[in-house]
Amino acid sequence: MKILLTGIAGILGATVARALDALGHEIIAVDNRPNPSVPMRVYLCDLAAPNLRLPEVETVDAVIHLANLPNMIGKQPNEVLIQNNAINANVFHMAAISGVKRVVFASSIQAIAGYEAKWTIQDFPSPRMTYLPLDSNMPQNPGSNWYALSKVHAELMLENLAMEYPGRTFIAARFPWILTELLHWKYMTDSINHQSYPILNYLEGFTYLSVTDAATFVLKCLDSELVGYHNYLPSQCFRFSDVSHKRVFHDFFASIPRRNESNLPNTTVDIRKITDEIGWEPLHPQCRVPLEPIVAKYFPHLGSAIAP
Ligand SMILES: NC(=O)c1ccc[n+]([C@@H]2O[C@H](COP(=O)([O-])OP(=O)(O)OC[C@H]3O[C@@H](n4cnc5c(N)ncnc54)[C@H](O)[C@@H]3O)[C@@H](O)[C@H]2O)c1
Repeated sequence: MKILLTGIAGILGATVARALDALGHEIIAVDNRPNPSVPMRVYLCDLAAPNLRLPEVETVDAVIHLANLPNMIGKQPNEVLIQNNAINANVFHMAAISGVKRVVFASSIQAIAGYEAKWTIQDFPSPRMTYLPLDSNMPQNPGSNWYALSKVHAELMLENLAMEYPGRTFIAARFPWILTELLHWKYMTDSINHQSYPILNYLEGFTYLSVTDAATFVLKCLDSELVGYHNYLPSQCFRFSDVSHKRVFHDFFASIPRRNESNLPNTTVDIRKITDEIGWEPLHPQCRVPLEPIVAKYFPHLGSAIAP
């Protein structure tokens, strides 16, 4: 396949590029900064610029769109929303009018997590997801977080394009926290200093995904026979070595409704729909980590309530 890939200088983009290259796909790579570590030419351009021209877009089979501001760190909310909306509107519009049959986009779990833009761990803010376990059917719920709002806007653009261009495929991947290969290896081998790498993403159900599993998900989206608009939550959750999941649900997510279905997985995330529809599941087993050091440092009020 010939694929236009945006965000190739990023963590996920570089991994996806290498995986596509290894499979023999032709890649048209775009970013606003170079990446000497990937084995292909990178076209440098600002994807947010008015009158954007995307290289060779008329001849590609698919667009994998990963270039966005990936969080709010060091940015004003309006800056993130304006930049991401401009980038996404440009890329999606160019792909649509150029006849591209398939678009895969990196959305975020924050589009459904519903939490506030500004919070500190000292406040122990409550999780706001609509229900647990999280799954691919969850309604959009960006809270007051404008990074999340930019992802919701992007999903709506794709849904809209799917109505305008029947027969084409538009997929939004609501990725959780993506772990670099090094960080994932550290979690897998329990060689991480839990005091310096705290698990702060309980507002996202303690979810994560290794960058290789995230890249594999993108590749599966290219192969699938789906048409129309689809969003998925390709994710794993940490497994705690010193605390049962029942206890975690009780202590962290007591206010969140549990889905009322039989045979639910005993975790915070349910990927069965993804496995059924596109045949993806993570290659790696869940990372097992101790919760006790995190609780002792960040959630002292839970204290000895955390017990196996
Ligand atoms: N890293 C995570 O934990 C995570 C979680 C959920 C979703 N995502 C999403 O996945 C995608 C990739 O994330 P990442 O971690 O690889 O981010 P990253 O910051 O490492 O990569 C993003 C890339 O986009 C490029 N880019 C940004 N603005 C641009 C512009 N105006 N023109 C051209 N290129 C531009 C950057 O130069 C960068 O190389 C993003 O859309 C992000 O929102 C990431």
